[in-house]
Amino acid sequence: MKKLFLPFVLIIVFIPLTALLSGCNVKGFFTNYADDPVYNSPITDDASAGKGGAETADASPGATTFKQVCATCHQAKGQGVPGTYPPLAGSALAQNADATKPIRIVLHGFQGQIERNGKTYNGVMAAWSQLTDQEISDVLSYVRSSWGNSASPVKPEDVKAVREKTMSKTSAYTEAELN
Ligand code: HEC
Repeated sequence: MKKLFLPFVLIIVFIPLTALLSGCNVKGFFTNYADDPVYNSPITDDASAGKGGAETADASPGATTFKQVCATCHQAKGQGVPGTYPPLAGSALAQNADATKPIRIVLHGFQGQIERNGKTYNGVMAAWSQLTDQEISDVLSYVRSSWGNSASPVKPEDVKAVREKTMSKTSAYTEAELN
């Protein structure tokens, strides 16, 4: 009789317990669906769709690309990280009247020692040529008109023209090369 006890426990207790924990995740009881990168909550989506005002401005395609791509380094409000990532807020290069300069930076990257607001930077920004002409024009238009910046918007045609003209460029621009 005693010999049957262990298999009995295994079958009657552990198997249903395993099934319960792994299979019966009713309404996300054991795990949170919000942690799942693939799961899109219809509740959250509905709620954000109804918002207006300032929220709408921040949901522009340029703002979205900025958040997804540039903010990692240049930070959410373009303030940068002193000594590591230069600020885009107030950046003369980002707001340059010659918009091909920021376009070239995004298409091919930027490197070499620079001075900004009394701080020295000597980093390397990678090229973002995998972004479309539209995405680059949107994100630069957003950068050029946010956080106190005020420069003309960038058109997709501008990006297309610079992309074609600088196709042979294989390394990141240095500040001297941009002039
Ligand atoms: C992985 C980090 C990183 C990401 C992501 C990044 N950058 Fe940069 N960016 C840098 C670094 C580092 C520099 C300065 C390079 C140097 O020291 O010469 C820079 C410089 C710049 C400059 C020149 C600023 C100035 O005043 O000199 C512009 C404009 C710029 N980035 C725009 C962007 C935009 C737009 C995006 C998003 C599409 C972006 N960056 C994404 C790291 C990054």
